[in-house]
Amino acid sequence: MNSRISFQDVVKTFPLKGAEFTALDGVSLDIADQEFVTVVGPSGCGKSTLMSMAAGLQEPSSGRVLVDGRPVTGPGPDRGVIFQQYALFPWLTVRQNVEFGLKLAAVPTQERRRRAAEAITLVGLDDFADALPKTLSGGMKQRCAIARAYAVDPQVLLMDEPFGALDALTRVQLQDQLLATWSREKRTVLFITHDVDEAVYLASRVVVMAARPGRIHRVVDVDLPYPRTEEIRLSADFRQIRNAVWTSVYHQESTAPAA
Ligand SMILES: Nc1ncnc2c1ncn2[C@@H]1O[C@H](COP(=O)(O)OP(=O)(O)OP(=O)(O)O)[C@@H](O)[C@H]1O
Ligand SMILES: [Mg+2]
Repeated sequence: MNSRISFQDVVKTFPLKGAEFTALDGVSLDIADQEFVTVVGPSGCGKSTLMSMAAGLQEPSSGRVLVDGRPVTGPGPDRGVIFQQYALFPWLTVRQNVEFGLKLAAVPTQERRRRAAEAITLVGLDDFADALPKTLSGGMKQRCAIARAYAVDPQVLLMDEPFGALDALTRVQLQDQLLATWSREKRTVLFITHDVDEAVYLASRVVVMAARPGRIHRVVDVDLPYPRTEEIRLSADFRQIRNAVWTSVYHQESTAPAA
């Protein structure tokens, strides 16, 4: 298989009170080029930890994380990351925050301006391009962080609950924009969410994780056509898949492995 991202028997432990805490215990997952995979699971099951290893911000304790067949050794412009906690530079305006990654990638000024403006428009922040983060609402800060990742236009998008702080309408709009961008630009997306509807609406596969220790509980194929529409969202097929995912997230104790 042509894997863009590959987690191979990944274990991640953290020191805890003189002992070891196992955050992830043997996670294997292959994400194909141009695939859209979502991850759901209870709080603390290791979703953010998993993503940060693909981003190159943490290393596995054992096992391997590969991107394009090569072990991840650090962050890179091929992977755009949107964190669960929007990480904006407070002393930079919205526009400057969005341009930051482009500056790092040595994109020339004109091109930087154009791409930043495009991304800012996409997330609906035109009127706030010159505002500082402290003057924005939580949802607006989140949209600024999304624009910053989009502007760099990476092959792989790693998104950790990116739409969590948004109102329902903005959330649906950004879901549809993300799907449009993904299918047009042929990106690969790994997207964490706690919203089961969102997980099913976006993905071709939903990875359901379990906690203590963090592991993959089940992978649900979403056999629904793209482009995803409101009609699909309201269909019986959608409901059925959503119910299956919901059940495996919220009734895990009945199928947990024996201790
Ligand atoms: N740097 C760290 N040091 C020690 N323990 C950590 C560290 N990072 C994460 N953990 C622990 O690893 C487990 C998984 O954390 P992680 O943030 O990946 O969970 P999550 O699935 O993203 O949860 P949430 O849905 O609440 O965001 C948690 O029990 C957490 O306490
Ligand atoms: Mg998390």
